Amino acid sequence: MTLDLQTLEDTAHEMVAEGKGILAADESNATMTKRLEAVGVESSDETRLRFRELLFTTPEAEEHISGVILYDETIRQATSDGTPIPEFLASRGMIPGIKVDTGAKPLAGAEDEKVTEGLDGLRERLAEYHELGARFAKWRGVIAIGEDRPSRTCISANAHALARYAALCQEAGIVPIVEPEVLMDGDHSIDSSEAATRATLHAVFGELLEQRVALEGIVLKPNMVLSGTDCSDQAGVDEVAERTLALLRQVVPAAVPGIAFLSGGQSDERASAHLNALNALGPAPWELSFSYGRALQAAPLGAWGGEESNADQTQAAFAHRARCNGEARFGRYTDELEQALAA
Ligand code: 13P
Repeated sequence: MTLDLQTLEDTAHEMVAEGKGILAADESNATMTKRLEAVGVESSDETRLRFRELLFTTPEAEEHISGVILYDETIRQATSDGTPIPEFLASRGMIPGIKVDTGAKPLAGAEDEKVTEGLDGLRERLAEYHELGARFAKWRGVIAIGEDRPSRTCISANAHALARYAALCQEAGIVPIVEPEVLMDGDHSIDSSEAATRATLHAVFGELLEQRVALEGIVLKPNMVLSGTDCSDQAGVDEVAERTLALLRQVVPAAVPGIAFLSGGQSDERASAHLNALNALGPAPWELSFSYGRALQAAPLGAWGGEESNADQTQAAFAHRARCNGEARFGRYTDELEQALAA
């Protein structure tokens, strides 16, 4: 089958369009249940849909949100007026996307390390998701830092799976978000984060080429180079931005249209400040964007708390975070903007 490379490239460019980024709203039911219960909301298909519908229907969300990653449950649901979610998003100018991995499972022979599964039957699932309206997909590999970790075994197994997934996506006319996440959990230094991220991205791009993935038709979703959460010596915003950009310049080919960072457990403000500093460093070969889950949703989820009467505050909180990150794409995120709640 010949690739429709032009369509893939067009979609990839739209995903990382200026001033915009991606909302990752693709939590599995288990993860979403944890997030809802943390704010006192019982998790059901209805509550999961209601919260997400509030995000998707936020006035002018499309100004800063180019696309939304959905979970299998949500791509089959409809808004309150009966419009299928993917159709609704597309009508608002937000590209529907879908998470297609089936989760990170223990990797045989590598203690405390994981490999992401989901390749079996993926061709057929992608065809169905395309039919349902998805134009991009996501697959997340997870790499942990610790004693003797990450192992080459773990890095190569995850890189291989990411590349096999990416090739199948492109065959289906779907842009793959390639997400190898080096976790920030732990007391490791920023040096360790840099080394693990370098080894991971080297392996990922090697495998992408091996599997004949067209780099012009992917979006890379990496972690930033950060000090471990429990490290006593926390790198500042400028150091994070400089080291992240320097590394990416060394390992990410210029053919890739865009890099959309994950937030990975950073605070909302840090995620915006780091993105801002990265963009302020000047022209890069690729767009430097965001594909945040927690850093876009934590504030609105807290504002909502399951109460319909909080709908306006929920949407205002989401609009605010989307705007902060949208402005960070131009290097225009400031303390004043952070303090000014969206009108
Ligand atoms: P976070 O921004 O919360 O890390 O989520 C992004 C994501 O999609 C992880 O797979």
